[in-house]
Amino acid sequence: MTHTQFHPVWDSFVRGYHWLQALTIGGLWYTGTEGLMDWHFSLAYFLLALITTRLIWGVFGSETAQFRRFVRSPITVFKYLAASIRGEKTADSIGHNPAGAYMVVAFMILLATQLTTGLFANDDIISEGPFAYLVSGETSSYLTEIHAINFNIILGAIGLHLTAIAVYLLRKENLITPMLTGKKRLVGSALPKVANGVWGWVIFLVIGVIIYFTLAKDVVTYLF
Ligand code: HEM
Ligand code: HEM
Repeated sequence: MTHTQFHPVWDSFVRGYHWLQALTIGGLWYTGTEGLMDWHFSLAYFLLALITTRLIWGVFGSETAQFRRFVRSPITVFKYLAASIRGEKTADSIGHNPAGAYMVVAFMILLATQLTTGLFANDDIISEGPFAYLVSGETSSYLTEIHAINFNIILGAIGLHLTAIAVYLLRKENLITPMLTGKKRLVGSALPKVANGVWGWVIFLVIGVIIYFTLAKDVVTYLF
């Protein structure tokens, strides 16, 4: 059976995670550079809960969210990019395309590095990450430096991400609307199994409560 209708591809958790992550990173950039450390830490714990849930959802969630389904071999990516550069019309992907999949992995590694180094960082004034006391002052300063350098790499990755999406748009493949509505026009018979995103939000709530009581409570209550 073939069809050309709109079908669900991104569940509500993947979409919510994506846009909340973008907003939170904007906030972390501003608060980090302005030295608004209480807000910086609070936003960082929120992002930690979001990303941890996304990693769990990448194992148990919708087919389009599962890492083992969308991460393909580097050869496939190479062939996909080569065809794409030659200007051949590549078939619309159901979820992430082969190159986009590696972008997701790259973001996960970069953000995990940022969160981890942040937990050990200090601002040379009064704020330090909750694990900074476990390492020497020198190590903490070193990790703070990595925290600053890695953020510039993250900015570069975001620039690349937005450029890629703009290129698809110019080539008449709109990836943004599906990330907002969850639906994509799929031609063909293979439809992805999209889970109910509510389960993602339930996991997020559980992880959020754990992070709140183990790491975030003091700094969050201080905000208000
Ligand atoms: C801080 C900024 C951003 C970060 C870190 C980021 C990161 C990501 C990540 C990790 C994914 C994979 C989603 C998943 O599988 O769960 C993704 C997908 C996507 N992002 Fe972003 N994003 C950012 C901003 C934006 C903005 C501003 C736009 C739109 C203008 C955008 C458009 C998209 C689209 C369309 C996809 C789906 C791509 C596909 O179809 O494969 N992103 N992004
Ligand atoms: C992905 C999450 C994070 C992002 C995007 C981020 C981003 C930033 C940025 C842009 C700065 C300013 C760096 C500079 O001085 O040039 C900064 C500083 C800082 N961040 Fe983060 N951060 C994140 C997570 C965390 C976490 C989890 C903590 C600790 C709980 C943390 C603690 C700090 C501290 C203590 C500083 C001050 C460093 C200094 O004064 O040089 N960050 N962060």
